[in-house]
Amino acid sequence: MASGASSSPPLPVLSLAAVVVVLLLLAARGGATPPHPLRGVRPLAFDEGYAQIFGSSNLALLRDGRRVRLALDESTGAGFASQDLFLHGFFSAAIKLPADYAAGVVVAFYLSNGDVYEKTHDELDFEFLGNVRGREWRVQTNVYGNGSTHAGREERYDLPFDPTDDFHHYSILWTSQRIIFYVDETPIREVVRTAAMGAAFPSKPMSLYATIWDGSTWATLGGRYRVNYRYAPFVAEFADLVIRGCAGDPAERDPHSAAAAACEARAGLEALAVPAERRAAMAAFRRAHTSYSYCHDRRRYPVALAECGAAALLPGRMFGPDGMRQHGRRARRGGRRVGAQDDAM
Ligand SMILES: *[C@@H]1O[C@H](CO)[C@@H](O)[C@H](O)[C@H]1NC(C)=O
Repeated sequence: MASGASSSPPLPVLSLAAVVVVLLLLAARGGATPPHPLRGVRPLAFDEGYAQIFGSSNLALLRDGRRVRLALDESTGAGFASQDLFLHGFFSAAIKLPADYAAGVVVAFYLSNGDVYEKTHDELDFEFLGNVRGREWRVQTNVYGNGSTHAGREERYDLPFDPTDDFHHYSILWTSQRIIFYVDETPIREVVRTAAMGAAFPSKPMSLYATIWDGSTWATLGGRYRVNYRYAPFVAEFADLVIRGCAGDPAERDPHSAAAAACEARAGLEALAVPAERRAAMAAFRRAHTSYSYCHDRRRYPVALAECGAAALLPGRMFGPDGMRQHGRRARRGGRRVGAQDDAM
């Protein structure tokens, strides 16, 4: 009604102000700033999207199910998974790792469909490898497609902060075109789908998992640094659980079907890909913090895998023939290579 125009103005202005205040309060809440793709996305409470998969009372819900505590002790680790499988999406959690001595402890935040496709499974990983003798935690990302477990595509990083001090956001974007791993605001790795990569690019619906487990046998080739349960329980906390994606039917075998494309477009996933102005930040993080790169591991891959092109490549002089970061000064002095054995994790 034309006459209504003069009587209504204060209300929308007030409510707009209220919305702004609420948004500011939300933004100020919690220690870490949510990464760009998380802005405006509502984290799910545990019951809304997840279910416990193991660990009985070693999984505890806090804050109305908005925070999940996973513990590892002598009896068991613990873990949860998404209720749905997803074909593409943006997956994120704020994670705080166990403090103090945590050798052999592994915390993982990952996508997998190993339950559904035993021989041809896909997987996208954030793995946190427990600190060794008080050294810092290391983070590993990995990509498997169609059962390509013989060809690991691991990268490891030293974090520029102490991940046991506070929550930090770790996120995985998976679209039909690319995979991006983020630490907080910063994209740290991008894998672009290429024809050469073929089925090694994950292409079937996956569930999201968060787990803590005893990695003694895996993380300690050579029998060093087993989990020491005198320091138990080891506790990892998960918050800001976000899934923005396309719940998929496990029978959906064509990641490029019209239905998959339509859902991906609705979810706006490609729009989340690294904008030009974040590329420099990604490159800077990679140069400063990459401690291992499969693309530079000539012992494992005498010929680098197909996707190790210019985009994925870091300067070759940064790495030794085993793909491990060379610390210039140490190498020149001819001192003992620290960490080669530990990093064989
Ligand atoms: C995935 O692996 C299976 C078994 O090795 C193979 O038969 C199939 O062709 C592969 N899929 C693609 C898309 O290459």
